[in-house]
Amino acid sequence: MDLRSDEVSLDPADWAGLRRLGHQMVDDMMGWLEGVRDRPVWQPIPGNVKARLEAPVPMQAAGAEAAYRDFIETVLPHSMGNVHPRFWGWVIGAGLPLGALAEMLAATMNPNCGGGDHIAGYVEAQVLDWCRTLVGFPAGASGILVSGGSMANLVGLAVGRNQNGGEDIRRHGVPTGGSRPVFYASEEAHSSIQKAVELLGVGTDGLRLIPVDQNFEIDLAALRQAIAADRAAGQRPCCLVGGAGAVKTGAIDDLTALADIAQAEGLWYHVDGAFGALAALSPALRPRLAGMERADSLAFDLHKWMSIPFEAGCVLVKDREAHRRTFAVNPDYLTHAERGLAAGPHWMDDYGVQLSRNFRALKIWLCFKALGLETFTRVIEQNVAQTRYLADLVEQADDLELLAPVPLNIAVFRFRAAGVDDARLNRLNAELLMRLQESGVAVPSNATIRGRFGIRVAHVNHRTRREDFDLLVSEVKRLGGVLLAEGW
Ligand SMILES: Cc1ncc(COP(=O)(O)O)c(C=O)c1O
Repeated sequence: MDLRSDEVSLDPADWAGLRRLGHQMVDDMMGWLEGVRDRPVWQPIPGNVKARLEAPVPMQAAGAEAAYRDFIETVLPHSMGNVHPRFWGWVIGAGLPLGALAEMLAATMNPNCGGGDHIAGYVEAQVLDWCRTLVGFPAGASGILVSGGSMANLVGLAVGRNQNGGEDIRRHGVPTGGSRPVFYASEEAHSSIQKAVELLGVGTDGLRLIPVDQNFEIDLAALRQAIAADRAAGQRPCCLVGGAGAVKTGAIDDLTALADIAQAEGLWYHVDGAFGALAALSPALRPRLAGMERADSLAFDLHKWMSIPFEAGCVLVKDREAHRRTFAVNPDYLTHAERGLAAGPHWMDDYGVQLSRNFRALKIWLCFKALGLETFTRVIEQNVAQTRYLADLVEQADDLELLAPVPLNIAVFRFRAAGVDDARLNRLNAELLMRLQESGVAVPSNATIRGRFGIRVAHVNHRTRREDFDLLVSEVKRLGGVLLAEGW
């Protein structure tokens, strides 16, 4: 049936043409990924390219082919670079070619995953159940896929706050003054924990950042003292956050001891395992995460160590009813029906902040099936072994030094030279990192460890080979020599 002359649709007038363009896009994108190793990791964006992105709103149609050409010329060449084998900045996954294709499938179906009785809810439930078994949570736990670790931490801590932070918080809000809820985490906890505590109305006055020991793990005695001091002052210890992989160093807190403390003190126990939780896939690494399975809520990402394309975070909560009680609001226009499309058990908006949600479960479901968890496990073990290889290279070099232990997949190191003090080394290494990134050879990021500026490699990259770390080390040594000679 044709459109009437006074009707408009956003579908293509020429389906065959768009189909051809779609094939072209797939060819181009797979080629772009296949050839990634031959390009610089990252390069500064030229001014004229930035200027192109200040163009006025396009009121007239340019057509899909022209818009795509613009993408190829303006957008694609200036990407972040995290698909490259020598990208190790922050904690950023490299993505999966099949994941990119899965995004197209999800966007084509384009369901709203807020709720209702359609297949997306069942796919998400299966993915959550798989995740649950991977990290050792019991059957019956609830969960939700979210944008990432930050949102996963917010959701987990919201449940903890509502369970433990005061009387009927949804109605009365967070108690203030003497009976304010208090949250505990180590000073190495990720900034998203602070953000969550602020957003939850507790405020940073209600967040105790506990010192760490020489391994950057939370100091248990200091934690016990802080809880006791708060109780003595009449405050309300509420939530304890354990770290399964600290963002700067990869340190893993003593999660069993934290579980014991949380249990003894009646605290909600949340574990931030943004990347580290998935080390549980490996039988060899799993023992280091002992105690994680005792958490009340656990946050982790699939877009980090599982390489699923952004965004893919997950939070699991043991007490399904507490989880639902924190978020569920059921107005008449969102009635959960007995029959029809509004039926079904998967009203996900009851378990998180969002109502409208994309079908992020599909890319996980598809990639897990296609690649198999054994393959993901091998990558995780490979990344840990490669990080150890890098650490060994650093330790063997007189002009390099590690700034922190390397327990997992993060190494922080710096260039050094005899007789050069920390202040100068900090300036030199900061400049070295900039030159390294701008050269396009490699992208680590930075972390300052006990006042020392370090080059930080956080390794979740399935494309990296050992030779990439050989190149990194030789470039850092070469640049360090150049900078010394320049008088930095
Ligand atoms: C330990 C930890 N927690 C939370 C986050 C935040 O995760 P996201 O960036 O997915 O929001 C990160 C990010 O690197 C992290 O390393």
